[in-house]
Amino acid sequence: MHTTGQAVPIAPVSQPLNKSWPVVRGGPLRGCLRDVQFRPLQLYETAWREHGDFVCLRVLPGFNAYLLAHPGAIEHILHGNLKNYRKPDSFNDAVRPLAGNGILTSEGETWRRQRRLVQPAFLRNSVGKVAGHMVAAIGETVDEWQAADDDRTLDVVPEMMRLALRIASTTLLGTDISGAADSIGAAYRTTFEYASLKMNGRLMFQPLWLPTRRNCEFKRCKTLLDRVILDLVARRRREAARQDVLDLLLAAQDEESGQGMSDEQLKDEALTLLTAGHETIGAALSWCWYLLAKHTDVQREFSEQVSRHLQGRLPTAEDLAAMPLATAIFEESMRLYPPAWGMPRETIEPDVICGYPVPARATLILSQYLVHRHPDFWPQPETFLPARFLSPAAARPKFAYFPFGGGPRICIGNHFAMVEGPLALAALSQRFHFALVPDQRIEADPTFTLRPKYGVHVTVRKRA
Ligand code: HEM
Repeated sequence: MHTTGQAVPIAPVSQPLNKSWPVVRGGPLRGCLRDVQFRPLQLYETAWREHGDFVCLRVLPGFNAYLLAHPGAIEHILHGNLKNYRKPDSFNDAVRPLAGNGILTSEGETWRRQRRLVQPAFLRNSVGKVAGHMVAAIGETVDEWQAADDDRTLDVVPEMMRLALRIASTTLLGTDISGAADSIGAAYRTTFEYASLKMNGRLMFQPLWLPTRRNCEFKRCKTLLDRVILDLVARRRREAARQDVLDLLLAAQDEESGQGMSDEQLKDEALTLLTAGHETIGAALSWCWYLLAKHTDVQREFSEQVSRHLQGRLPTAEDLAAMPLATAIFEESMRLYPPAWGMPRETIEPDVICGYPVPARATLILSQYLVHRHPDFWPQPETFLPARFLSPAAARPKFAYFPFGGGPRICIGNHFAMVEGPLALAALSQRFHFALVPDQRIEADPTFTLRPKYGVHVTVRKRA
């Protein structure tokens, strides 16, 4: 994971074993179900502020979820006793209709084999190989904005989602599917929205076999997408290399068996990477612009740093070390608004987490949103202070900050993201000034990622 600051051990949680969980009961019939479905962030935050770092939520009578907001608990699950935890079926079942059995949703030996195959394409030095595609995609957006009217007002959320999809699709597949008129992009957006709704349990009573309008539309788009990606894979097997991620995946061979991926696996992995890799970055960048537009002093310092170093040209990955604020702003923004705001896990056997007992097959929520704002680990936790990521003296427990998860299932795209996000910030900040449109409502919407619910409306002024 990409963090500055040194990890410190967490003081052992030494209270007696088998502490009892504070319980949030919700309504007598439906428990907290509706809040989990429609207001999860408010539910978790209130539960945490009222009851502390370990809270049992009665989702439905007979079904509990355990909310965890302490770095010690996160470390136990993602690292200390990780063999006892898996992703719950509810998560895998929501993403699988779109992304198939890729590394995001697979478990056990299938996951291990696929991770071994995909990992080399995302190592730090492989990201360097595709950074040129990233910069080219960012450059196209900069040029489009430069050609547009000055002082125009726009919502940065769809703009950043489009930019992230442009970067993801060109670096991963060598094809830009981000255009509003692009039929592949439209099919992808429809399938992605479907997966997001499923993730929040909003399609709980609409299994895919029911011939509803939404299900039929999803199936039509998914068939189109599968065909397009399989054609792309077949064409690539015949063509010369283009140095994108698809090439690296095509060349990947399992070090144990010497085998590569089948076309079907390649298709699932390509869709997985597109899904996991675009909306997360789009959300993170949207929050960055909101925070920069709100904190004009930071925005000014950042644009001065970037302009001084770049002198008008586009940034490359090598420039990031000389513009440390780019990375610090991206990290601090993901502290306050982590795109992955809560990760689900399920126990295999009963366990005791920091003294709290959990039964087998219990659902746990590991909340980045809460841990990242924990006053025991973050001074001025609610304040946007990118400088806290610049100081090597900052010491905190390792899992006080985990925007990319941790352990063996840590985000495979974390190096990719930590180049892509700061590059996009630097390139756009050098050319444009962002001012918040007054009197707008900013609220975090916890769907597939944490994104601004009503958008972030800004006036974009070209810099001289
Ligand atoms: C700001 C950007 C990103 C954030 C915050 C983020 C966050 C995460 C998190 C928290 C996980 C772990 C989920 C879990 O263990 O339950 C994860 C997994 C994953 N991410 Fe990312 N991600 C980002 C960007 C990317 C990018 C750019 C890609 C690919 C191009 C990517 C691909 C994946 C994949 C394939 C997994 C599953 C890994 C596995 O289970 O082995 N992510 N991501």
